[in-house]
Amino acid sequence: QALLKTGRLGQNMHFLESCPSTQIAAHQLAQEDAPDGTVVLTEEQTAGRGRMARRWHSAANKGIWMSVILRPDVPPQKAPQFTLVTAVAVVRAIEQVTGLKPEIKWPNDILLNGKKCTGILTELQSDADGIQALIIGIGLNVNQLREDFDPEVQDIATSLKMESGDDVDRKQLVSSILYFLEQYSDLYIAEGFGMLKLMWESYSSTIGRPVRARMAKETLEGMAEGITEDGVLQLRTPDGKLHGIYSADIEMTN
Ligand code: BTN
Repeated sequence: QALLKTGRLGQNMHFLESCPSTQIAAHQLAQEDAPDGTVVLTEEQTAGRGRMARRWHSAANKGIWMSVILRPDVPPQKAPQFTLVTAVAVVRAIEQVTGLKPEIKWPNDILLNGKKCTGILTELQSDADGIQALIIGIGLNVNQLREDFDPEVQDIATSLKMESGDDVDRKQLVSSILYFLEQYSDLYIAEGFGMLKLMWESYSSTIGRPVRARMAKETLEGMAEGITEDGVLQLRTPDGKLHGIYSADIEMTN
């Protein structure tokens, strides 16, 4: 707590030894009027969840499993960019604490040497009056070794320790993530996505590369040209058409 350099984020911190998912706990707290900036952190999740109803592997005592409640006064169509803003904040924190150079894969995976070290999941509580709460879930693999991961993700997942060779101080990382997340979400709310979009693109492994986008109903291949002000991926197919991709799994094709 003494490490925190924020005004709001994490000033109300709930720490759980073990829980099914910090997302579920945060949804509950948000419904009970938890203030903007409330954070739920746990050592272990027994039912961590990922995007697209997938499971998220959350080994005990080795990662950062955290959900942040934000209550921004913005219209619901401005919510998706918070995931991208969070990705920039986490990349900056990883750089600051470890010196590693992570990349972002659209929309929200953070990679080291092409393997995933962080996933971000943003969920919304809204009603007729607009956004009630954003629940931003961050799962960061910190001190795992290869054998700590489930066999089915061992070839696609990595941790900060595996990449840097050193144990990483999780408290320092949490403090740094919350610091940058507060700065960047305030910047986004005050000034829009412009500056953050540039930062996001500078960390992106996707932009300027040929990719395959697997969506629910179709798969498209083409050049990832950029993201829009709304965070939508712009993909140009060989026939010259520009497609806006809202949700997909992206693979690099070279
Ligand atoms: C993804 O890449 O699919 C997103 C993974 C998000 C995982 C985090 S861990 C903390 C929070 N609680 C959850 O159950 N999920 C998110």
